[in-house]
Amino acid sequence: MVATAVEDLAPRSEEEVLEHLKSGKLVEGVQHMSPKYLQGIRRILTVSADTEFVSAPAYLRAAQHAPALNNFGSAISIIQDELAHAHIGYRLLGDLGVDMDRLIYERPAAEFKYPYAFDVPLDSWIELVCANALYDQAGYVLLSDVYESSTFGPWKRALAKVDKEETFHLRHGRTWLKKLVKDSGEKAKVQAAVDWMFILTLEWFGLPDERKRHGIQLEYGFKGKSNDELRQAWMAEVVPFMEEIGIEVPAHREGDRYVIDCAFPRAFDEESKTWGEQITWEDVLVRWKARGPMNEAYVEKLQRGYRTTSFRRAT
Ligand SMILES: [Fe+2]
Ligand SMILES: [Fe+2]
Repeated sequence: MVATAVEDLAPRSEEEVLEHLKSGKLVEGVQHMSPKYLQGIRRILTVSADTEFVSAPAYLRAAQHAPALNNFGSAISIIQDELAHAHIGYRLLGDLGVDMDRLIYERPAAEFKYPYAFDVPLDSWIELVCANALYDQAGYVLLSDVYESSTFGPWKRALAKVDKEETFHLRHGRTWLKKLVKDSGEKAKVQAAVDWMFILTLEWFGLPDERKRHGIQLEYGFKGKSNDELRQAWMAEVVPFMEEIGIEVPAHREGDRYVIDCAFPRAFDEESKTWGEQITWEDVLVRWKARGPMNEAYVEKLQRGYRTTSFRRAT
């Protein structure tokens, strides 16, 4: 059998990698990886980079509704951060033997691996700042976990910068929401946006632990917390904040845990952005796999320049 690129690139055995990690050392490059570690880290980096990348066109669409030019400038600054975050992930993937041009610019839209939430359009400034408070908070929870637990040194170090910028994004959302809820009309719009976005962000963290345990992700230290633990960490930030500003969310605290108060997971109507009856996680997986309304348009926006310019990287 012809050896795959992954096997050629990653020379260590599973035992050697686990031994290396047990001794408290970080993995610094393919020379420290087994094929399984390499495949795993490529997968989680791709999900992370794709999520950062697609947030740029998603936020840009909504930024056009900025109430004033300086607000538009803040949104653009966030978008610029997100593109830089994406670049960190893709650049690391390039170092791990992935063809970056193919991955970023030639991959079909349906193969991008970001959360379904970004496939649902953000249609107003209010939805943008809600996304900052909810989606960027999810990104922050996920990346803080990677920052604390990751065994891949180059990513861990890069995340020190990313974490600080994500803090700015979610503060941007929170500051705006605090201001908006003072007006009853605006508050109703915030509530309407949170009504559809809160549950979509709950989904973001993936299947519950009883359904899926990311053995390899935890064993190799790609991340430290399970899906349910991350969902809890997100609710622990978002639910008290929403209560503080008088916005209702379908979750409450019981002891040291948060309990979801509505049917979950649920059917979602993409047109009206409303939630329906309880469904199974299998049904959710079907919806995720089909992708949502903005998938093709966003990826097209990100890839268009590559196709329409004659510039190519010098070899
Ligand atoms: Fe980001
Ligand atoms: Fe962000």
